[in-house]
Amino acid sequence: MMVDTVDTADTVVANNTLLDVRDLKMHFPLTRGILIQRTVGYVRAVDGVSFSIERGKTLGLVGESGSGKTTIGRTLIRLYKPTSGQIIFDKQDLAKLNGEALRHIRQNIQMIFQDPFASLNPRFTIGSLISEPMHIYKVGSNKEIRERTEELLQIVGLRPEYIDRYPHEFSGGQRQRIVIARALSINPEFVIADEPVSALDVSIRAQILNLLERLQNQFNLTYLFVSHDLSVVRHVADRIAVMYLGTFVEMADRDELYTAPKHPYTKALLSAVPIPDPKIERKRQRIILSGDLPSPVNIPSGCRFHQRCPMAQQICREVEPAFEAKEGHEHYAACHFSDQVS
Ligand SMILES: Nc1ncnc2c1ncn2[C@@H]1O[C@H](COP(=O)(O)OP(=O)(O)OP(=O)(O)O)[C@@H](O)[C@H]1O
Ligand code: SF4
Ligand SMILES: [Mg+2]
Repeated sequence: MMVDTVDTADTVVANNTLLDVRDLKMHFPLTRGILIQRTVGYVRAVDGVSFSIERGKTLGLVGESGSGKTTIGRTLIRLYKPTSGQIIFDKQDLAKLNGEALRHIRQNIQMIFQDPFASLNPRFTIGSLISEPMHIYKVGSNKEIRERTEELLQIVGLRPEYIDRYPHEFSGGQRQRIVIARALSINPEFVIADEPVSALDVSIRAQILNLLERLQNQFNLTYLFVSHDLSVVRHVADRIAVMYLGTFVEMADRDELYTAPKHPYTKALLSAVPIPDPKIERKRQRIILSGDLPSPVNIPSGCRFHQRCPMAQQICREVEPAFEAKEGHEHYAACHFSDQVS
């Protein structure tokens, strides 16, 4: 079968890049009518994002509810066919793949969802849930798959004897370990973790984050780590992208983003994160954004953040700022006045 490959000779893709996403758009049609459906508009959930992730690294993706984070994840694993753009994974464009070629490459990409209660079917034993992908991809005999399942339980910190138990016998944290074991069962290179600790008790979040970190080192995994919580992302990410209404407004190395943000939206998000040092915490000024996230059906003109931005000027209402490199190491932001953000 012919597979679309991407000639990367003339592009600046570092050898170590595993995933390179270019101008990705995912617009959902908005339809009206009962018998005859008409398209009356589009939900521009993802509206032109570009980023790359190096092998073994983590890109953190933050932004408030409805900004398009999950839609990016679901489009990358091709639960959706993107409206446009490229998803270059291991030199192949996933956006164009179909059928067997897509199935083949999908083994390499797994997604972990937020709710470990919803993602495990209560009628199956955890052994059959963890081994399901191995059966689908026929990676060995039944005996080999069972042995591998027991090994996976150990890898994620659970006892192999649990293999014949059912999901309801486990706590939220243990269930998320089971979900992680399942995601790792067919040795993916790339894992999309969509709010993997948000549904868990605060007391066990750190354990799951540590587990994800250990597994990354052990198997050289590459992560896209989605969260609305900047303090969680700070623990895990090498680079961070900040999303607002379908686009990235800022992307930078983790420490640079925290210490020298170049977008007012990032600055507002950061101002909401408590600082462990009480002396600094007392002086922290919270920036409260007015209004809600606008609808992705009617995206504001100019800078899509202008209605809520404390720094907005006339030009912001009229001209969309480019997402471009600013001062610093590979630091990108979309703001006309990024040099005035401090
Ligand atoms: N299948 C779909 N059809 C139509 N609209 C959708 C679909 N999936 C998501 N959307 C819309 O796209 C926008 C982005 O949703 P998405 O779930 O990606 O946001 P999110 O950043 O993951 O939010 P949250 O933090 O709440 O999980 C929302 O306005 C949502 O209603
Ligand atoms: S371009 Fe204008 S409205 Fe947009 S973030 Fe910058 S200052 Fe605010
Ligand atoms: Mg989401």
